[in-house]
Formats: sequence, structure tokens, C-alpha cells
Amino acid sequence: MCGIVGIIGKDNAADILVQGLEKLEYRGYDSAGIFVAGANDQHYLVKSQGRIADLQARITPEVNGTVGIGHTRWATHGKPSERNAHPHTSSNQRFTLVHNGVIENFEEIKQEFLQNKQLEGETDTEIAVHLVEYFSDNGLATKAAFKKALTIIKGSYAFALIDRNDPETIYVAKNKSPLLIGLGDGFNVICSDAMAMLSQTNHFVEIADGEMVTVKANEIAIEDEKGNAVYRESYEAQLNLSDIEKGTYPYYMLKEIDEQPSVMRRIIQAYTTATGDTQIDEEILNQIIASDRIYIIACGTSYNAGWVGKAILEQMTNIPVEVHLSSEFGYNMPLLSAKPFFIFLSQSGETADSRQVLVQLNEMGLPSLTLTNVAGSTLSREADYTLLLHAGPEIAVASTKAYTAQIAVLAVLAKAIGDQKANPKSLNFDIAHELSVGAAIMETIIDEKMLISQLVEQYLTDSRNAFYIGRGVDYFVAMEASLKLKEISYIQAEGFAAGELKHGTIALVEEGTPVFGIITDQKTAAHTRGNLKEVESRGAHNFVISLESLAKETDQLIIPDVHPLLTPLVSIVPTQLIAYFATLQRGYDVDKPRNLAKSVTVE
Ligand code: AGP
Ligand code: GLU
Repeated sequence: MCGIVGIIGKDNAADILVQGLEKLEYRGYDSAGIFVAGANDQHYLVKSQGRIADLQARITPEVNGTVGIGHTRWATHGKPSERNAHPHTSSNQRFTLVHNGVIENFEEIKQEFLQNKQLEGETDTEIAVHLVEYFSDNGLATKAAFKKALTIIKGSYAFALIDRNDPETIYVAKNKSPLLIGLGDGFNVICSDAMAMLSQTNHFVEIADGEMVTVKANEIAIEDEKGNAVYRESYEAQLNLSDIEKGTYPYYMLKEIDEQPSVMRRIIQAYTTATGDTQIDEEILNQIIASDRIYIIACGTSYNAGWVGKAILEQMTNIPVEVHLSSEFGYNMPLLSAKPFFIFLSQSGETADSRQVLVQLNEMGLPSLTLTNVAGSTLSREADYTLLLHAGPEIAVASTKAYTAQIAVLAVLAKAIGDQKANPKSLNFDIAHELSVGAAIMETIIDEKMLISQLVEQYLTDSRNAFYIGRGVDYFVAMEASLKLKEISYIQAEGFAAGELKHGTIALVEEGTPVFGIITDQKTAAHTRGNLKEVESRGAHNFVISLESLAKETDQLIIPDVHPLLTPLVSIVPTQLIAYFATLQRGYDVDKPRNLAKSVTVE
């Protein structure tokens, strides 16, 4: 969470930092700040609570220079406020630092080294800058003081530090939190995500955990924990600036919902041949076939996609699949089967909860595959294998196209394994064709925006709560649909197994409660309709989303039929639009819901 940026060796550092922070704002947006070292020993520290726009409003024309660091915060320690906003400065004003992550032993550090220090705010981060000052005061040069501090600090961090006495250098270090160095011509940049600095360069160097980097305008020097020099090639970011712009869209979320059909087509292109065969690294397939159980590990929307993936994988491969929340699995690991195979689902590839599981599995020597949208992300680098989602950058906090991409890539994977095992169900499944049918149906649903917007006005204008219900994969879609609705519109929404409602939760249904029923499976359609009748009898305002072949005239939204294994790809789309319009109609920020951040890099 949070984004950090830095630049050294280029005029207009303040503008470049702010532009970079704008691109990272999706990672955290409760407060922000920049520090710029200007000519003639002038230094500027500007901080603000709120959004990057609030920070920008405070930056006056004289704030300028060729070196600087910036931060957009998602508070972990201490409330969002100007005082707690980064950059933080040491008491003697010499050192200034930004931090992404959590310092776990900040209380201990305070006790041991900083008892007499007057701290300004409540963040864990402030400890780090004072610790550097402490070692500097004890006679260490800045780099040595920073390195010494790093040996004491425990937790996750991406740090960038400037010493006012030597503004020709930015010191950088990383452990668990993402960090890249971007290489320019006569200048260098620092960022949590390449997107932030694409306007400056598309050549980046990855930094590994435990490394420290000395960044100057014309050179960078990486050192490992033992102080050995590390040489690493840069890579070219495969991103276009236009991929990360909103264009004519009012919100990224709407753009990303609309992009889903083209994402499906990209996945077909990437993973199938012209004759319709799948193309996935044989080694991945062999490893999975040799396993006796697949464990899917994920959080949030990716976790919900995992449940749909389980349904598809089990049918096509006959290998049992378990789906687990990363934050639970890591600390309460179930008894594992004799030959487990792990699949990590993560749009960002940076989710700390998932990463801590992968670290443990790597220590146990167990095989893993990451499905992610971000090439080179931590979960991609640290798993044995990676399959990319090809969804293009997803910027809205509410995940949409990554969900459908995860399901589509899992379906291709399931088909590839099923074919190798000569499973008739798999052999008869023309995945490229069925995915392209799915893409076309997504388009027809997306074309119904006006209708969906009107229905939302009728159903959700005054509601404080809502239910999504379904059975089987419709239940899994209900879980994701309710997450979408609650995280951005703040309507308390629950996704429920339709048959389970009557075992207690139906008590919450009262006059006018919106209940959305999802019906795409012939074998459970009648039962879900029965459950909808039960809630209707208790006053619910029912809204039915059904497949054409199972529809009744009175249903509110009817979706053209798609292959039975792929129904979630299309049934989720109206629910994404429902969440979008409910949020818009309530006047909230669709892309940046309160309390959240896109990339959750703390446990
Ligand atoms: C969903 O809209 C959220 N953005 C969130 O639940 C997200 O899916 C979760 O934090 C996992 O992120 P990841 O896929 O990047 O690992
Ligand atoms: N833990 C730090 C804070 O609360 C950094 C949080 C972040 O990564 O945004 O300020």
C-alpha cells in the first residue's frame, strides 16, 4: 500500500514527483507529501492530508529542484493527518525519508535508542529517520548509518532517504515492499510501480529484498545485505502511457469493465493456437498432473475467482482443489496432501498476505504457480511458474477485469490439463471458441448500461443493505458481486448460498430489502427461485439476473446463454455495473473508496 517516488538529476523535480504520485494514488490516498532539495541549499517539505490534488494545491512555484522524494499514504500506524504524512524528517532536519510498509519493532527501537526523542506523530516510520540520525550522531557516515538502521529494523519497507548535506544521493532499501529504480539519461528515478515514472523512462531495475541502493544522477550502485556489489540488467516495461490513462471515461472502473471483452480475446491469443489448442508450458502441466491436490491461495476478489476456478478445474482435471484465504492459510495451515500443488491468484502480485504463504511454501520446497497481471511482480518472481493475466493495468481499487481474466486463464489451464489426461469433457470443450462467445456476450451486457443504471435507481437508492444469492458457481459470483457493491457504494452487502439464507440470515430481510438472485445453472435454478420466493414473502425487493434458457419474463436482467463452465464470466458483468451505478448515484468516488488501497502490501 502507499506509493513512493524519487528523482535525482532532472529539473522540475517537484512536478515529476507529483505526476508520479498521481499515478500511484490508487495505492493509497489518505495523505501525501514531497521533499525537494533545490539550488543554494534551499529545501522544501510540503505535506497534506487527503488526495494528491490537495497536496498539489499547496505546492508554490518556488518549490523546485533536481532531487526529491514523495509519498502517498495508506495509514497503518497513526491516523491520516498532515503530521503523520510522509516524508518524515529527523530532529536536526538533516535526514528526510519516505517509507512504504510496516516497522514491526518500532516500539522496541524507540525504547532502546530513542527514549529522549520528541516524536512528532504516531507513525512507525518516524522511528526509522530518527534511527539514521542516531547512528549518524554516533559518528557513522550517512550510508553506514542507514545500513546500520536497516540491520535493526524488522518488518516490511521500501525506504528512500535524502541527506541534506549531500543532496547528490538518494539512499534506497527494500524488504518485502515493492520498489524499482528507473534509469534515465543523466537522471534516475525511484518508484513503487513502473506506472509512476513511465513518462520519464521505460527502463527499470528490480531491487531484491535485503538490498540497498545508492542512487545518483548518473549511476546506481546496488549492494546485498553483506555489502557485496550486485549487478542487475534493467528490463523494459511493457506498458504504454495510454494504458494507464482514463481517456474519455469518467472513472477507471468503467473503462476496466468495458475492457473485459478485449481482455478475453487477448487471453485467447496468448494461450491458444490458431487451431484452438491450448499453449501452456508443459512443465507446469506435468507438475500439476503429478500432484494429488491443488491449493488455490488468494485474497478478496482473487479469492472469489479461486472458487470459480475450483469448479472448472475439478470438472476438467479430476484433481481435487481447495481454495484458501492467504491470511488464514499462512498461520493455520491445514494438513497438506502428499503431493500438493499451489496456485496463487493475485492481480497485483504484491499482496503481502499471499506472499507470506509463498515464502513458507518455498521453504518447504513445494511447487507453485502464480497467476498475476503484473510481470516481474514479487509473487511472480518467487513462485516456480507464472501465467500472466494479460488484463492490462487495473487501476480502480475495485477489481473487475482481473477477476474475469483470472477465471479465463484458470479455464485455459484446466482445459490444458484435462486434454493431457484425455478427459472427454475437456476434449469436447473448444475453449477459444467458448471464450470468444463469452466476450461477445459481455459486450451485449455492457451495452445495457442505461437499463442497469435505471434499475439501480429503483432498487438501491435508499437501501442500507442488500443480498446477492445463488447456488454453486452462482453463489461464488454472489460473493464477488456483494464485495463489489459494498467496497465502493458502502451498502452493506452479503453474498449468500441461496439455500442457506433460511438457516438464520433471512432474519435480516425486511420490507424493501434488495435481494439479487443469480440463476445460470439448470440443476439449481428452480431451488434458487424457491429461495427468492421465500424472501419475497418477507418483503424483499427481488432482482433476478438469469440466463436466457432459464429466464422468466419477469426477470430484471436476462443474459444470453454461454458455455455452462463459463457462466461466471458473464453473470458478474451486470453486478459490476450495478456496483458502479449505485456508487455514482450516491456521489462517492468510484475508483478510490474510503479506507482502501489497491495493492495491499501489509499483512
Ligand atoms: C477487490 O476489488 C479488491 N481490490 C481486493 O479484494 C483484491 O482483490 C485483494 O486485495 C487481492 O489483491 P490481489 O489480487 O492483487 O492479490
Ligand atoms: N506504516 C507507515 C505509516 O503508517 C507507512 C504506511 C504506507 O505504506 O503507506 O505511515
